[in-house]
Amino acid sequence: MRRLLLLSFLGIVLIALAVSTVPFALFLQSVERDRLLTTLERDAFVLAGRSEEALESLDADDLAPVRDLATDYREAGGARVVIVDTTATVVVTNDSQENRVGISYASRPEFAEALSGVVSTGERYSDTLGITLVYVAVPVFSGPAIVGAVRLTFDRAFIDTEVNRQLTGIGLVALTTLALGALIAIVLSRTLSRGLKELDTAALAMAEGDFAMRARDDVGPAEIRALSRAFNDMASRVGTLVETQRRFASDASHQLRTPITALMLRVGGLRESLKPGAKNLERLDAIDAELSRLNRLIDGLLTLGRAGSQEVTREVIDASEVSRERLESWTSLAEEAGISLTAKIDKGLLVSAVPTAVEQIVDVFLDNALSVSDHGGKIEVSVVAEGAQVVISVSDQGPGMTPEEISRAFDRFWRGSSGYEGTGLGLAVVKQLAEASGAQVSLTSRAAGGILAQVKFNAPHS
Ligand SMILES: Nc1ncnc2c1ncn2[C@@H]1O[C@H](COP(=O)(O)OP(=O)(O)OP(=O)(O)O)[C@@H](O)[C@H]1O
Ligand SMILES: [Mg+2]
Repeated sequence: MRRLLLLSFLGIVLIALAVSTVPFALFLQSVERDRLLTTLERDAFVLAGRSEEALESLDADDLAPVRDLATDYREAGGARVVIVDTTATVVVTNDSQENRVGISYASRPEFAEALSGVVSTGERYSDTLGITLVYVAVPVFSGPAIVGAVRLTFDRAFIDTEVNRQLTGIGLVALTTLALGALIAIVLSRTLSRGLKELDTAALAMAEGDFAMRARDDVGPAEIRALSRAFNDMASRVGTLVETQRRFASDASHQLRTPITALMLRVGGLRESLKPGAKNLERLDAIDAELSRLNRLIDGLLTLGRAGSQEVTREVIDASEVSRERLESWTSLAEEAGISLTAKIDKGLLVSAVPTAVEQIVDVFLDNALSVSDHGGKIEVSVVAEGAQVVISVSDQGPGMTPEEISRAFDRFWRGSSGYEGTGLGLAVVKQLAEASGAQVSLTSRAAGGILAQVKFNAPHS
């Protein structure tokens, strides 16, 4: 993420640089051209002043110093000079390769203009040289009379070279600035992201139930440190709260169980004191049933509390083995009730689940199925692999449930119209345990009547 941000930042700066380069180059070109023309014009006037006398006399002795001056000027890096008389015939040039003295330049528009008393500047393609020239032509006055003209020319390519040289310099400065900017951005984003990373690690640990984890609050900018401190405060408060709640739950369970066990013992004692067939025996059975329901209620509430607090971690469990064991302990109850309990359990199917999840879920499914089954009913249990999952199914031939009932069945304390005495917590516990185990649980109406209760666990490392 950070790398992406940095790359887009560099990309945007590079595009901005590239886009601004074209107009900037054009601007530089026009500035450079104006600067050159001003210099040329100044030099042309100086040369015009120096050649006034020579042009008046057109004497070779007078022209010689002017030619020397022009040659020196060229050698010092100056422009090409052509001086003409009033007929636009060349009298002096500083071109060492070609002596054009005596040739008429009357056809050149800039000379025509200069000889008419006007300063002429501009660009023109020279057929003679095959290049674009930048020129300045000025008239040479002797008093009010024009005695000739001086023209200075430069190769236009010179301007381009100069502009390129300046652009390269500016480009280097820009790239250095960009590199420095990127460096600062990297350093800044590192410090920023380091603090956030610490916070992220702590938040993840807390999400997994580790309330002792603290984020470092001495790295990153002030805002992130403040955030880390606030997070740590919150973590310690939540930790204390969870611990208090957990302790309360276990204390409450202990406190409640003791009197219930005592009550059950007393009921047992009372039962023994009664004669067989006594009428009050039925009442005692009812009290016993209520007491076991109370016990189950406490168990359910405690399981819900524990599973909700996420203090449990998943482990590898042999679902086949656990299901078979649970089935065995329910068999005698089923037999007594005249209900057939059959099973198809594939061997050695391992699942990833929180401890006791498999047995508790199988228990709740079987408990419900038995509760709704009539004498002669049939309950089928199966444990099979399905792709990377292990599916435990319990199907019964009971009254079944409407879609509306199915959608509410996992709510805490919700009990349907099936008529048996439940606490309404069984399936709520199943849902919590399944969620904590990363499993999916479902109730489906069977076409043949009854309910198919299923839980799908993930195989370990799937
Ligand atoms: N196999 C089933 N067939 C028909 N109804 C069912 C079945 N399983 C559950 N139910 C309905 O869903 C309700 C909720 O079930 P749940 O197991 O959560 O609670 P309970 O069985 O009432 O109480 P307990 O906490 O003792 O299990 C039940 O009261 C029952 O009406
Ligand atoms: Mg139940």
